[in-house]
Amino acid sequence: MTGADRPLVLGIETSCDETGVGLVRGGTLIADALASSVDEHARYGGVVPEIAARAHLEAMVPTIERALDRAGLRHRDVDAVAVTAGPGLAGALLVGVAAAKAYALALGVPLHGVHHLAAHVAVDTLEHGPLPRPSVALLVSGGHSSLLLVPDLATEPVVPLGATVDDAAGEAYDKVARLLGMPFPGGPPIDAAAREGRADIAFPRAKAGDGTFDFSFSGLKTAVARWVEARRRAGEPVPVADVAASFQEAVADVLTAKAVAACRSRGVDTLVIGGGVAANSRLRALAAQRCEAAGITLRVPRPGLCTDNGAMVAALGSLRVEAGVEPSPLDLPATSALAL
Ligand code: KG4
Ligand code: ZN
Repeated sequence: MTGADRPLVLGIETSCDETGVGLVRGGTLIADALASSVDEHARYGGVVPEIAARAHLEAMVPTIERALDRAGLRHRDVDAVAVTAGPGLAGALLVGVAAAKAYALALGVPLHGVHHLAAHVAVDTLEHGPLPRPSVALLVSGGHSSLLLVPDLATEPVVPLGATVDDAAGEAYDKVARLLGMPFPGGPPIDAAAREGRADIAFPRAKAGDGTFDFSFSGLKTAVARWVEARRRAGEPVPVADVAASFQEAVADVLTAKAVAACRSRGVDTLVIGGGVAANSRLRALAAQRCEAAGITLRVPRPGLCTDNGAMVAALGSLRVEAGVEPSPLDLPATSALAL
């Protein structure tokens, strides 16, 4: 098959607050479009499920039209529809799954329900080509912090190695930003402030040496809150940049140490990092440094592909379609706690 003969897959992502649409043919991203309701959630300091679901409903059709327009393609060019079936916010997922079914049925093409975390890993193939089997993936976002063993993305289930036992890494960023008086989402302002600060406050590295691949960030968040409170109570100024840098160092240290340990324990020499927190400058730098020292190839997609988007769903859908994987039934459910 030449590139142009390969199936065109439309991908739809609505698990959280981004309405993402992507078009992928073979291993190539043809076009994508994104609508975000993040500004509508900012005043609440976190994503409000009902607001997200309603925003998806309004954005769904226009976002699909925008992606097709950008590609110069029409509905009838689509050969398959892929959609995030879970995990995520129930009402938000439902909008994407219902839309995907409607498009698949109307266009007479197969439907593929995909796992959100597997899609976060699959997106890297659009930039860096096929993923060596097996690879290890570190996924860090507002909703998840997981270490995964990734065999064949299209045909074999991803194996969880560890996950957060409480707050996700991005959630910790958002909560610490809030207590430092920074806007939501908190990752970018903390990242920026940290560049001006010194990481010299010894915040805890929970579960660091426990031999598991699990994470815990809630104690770190509390430690930062206590430290800041003590300063305020004593009437002393809070060195915001140093607090941000020290918090960020604790997160990046634990994430990268466990990711490298997971690669070593499984004899894997490729690490993929994805999710919104993968945009973090310190995490990227420390991961690059530790992977190089350990002889591990590090793959991190560009930031726009790390956060939730439709291209990642289309990428995984495309891998499944080309591997001849059986499509999903039209009664595919949206499953907020979808297992891997
Ligand atoms: O993947 P994503 O867009 O959405 C989901 O949560 O699924 O990730 C959003 C998260 C937020 O918690 C945000 O604060 C965090 O990613 N984030 C960052 C950075 N940019 C975004 N965290 C640390 N450093 C950043 N530069
Ligand atoms: Zn995500």
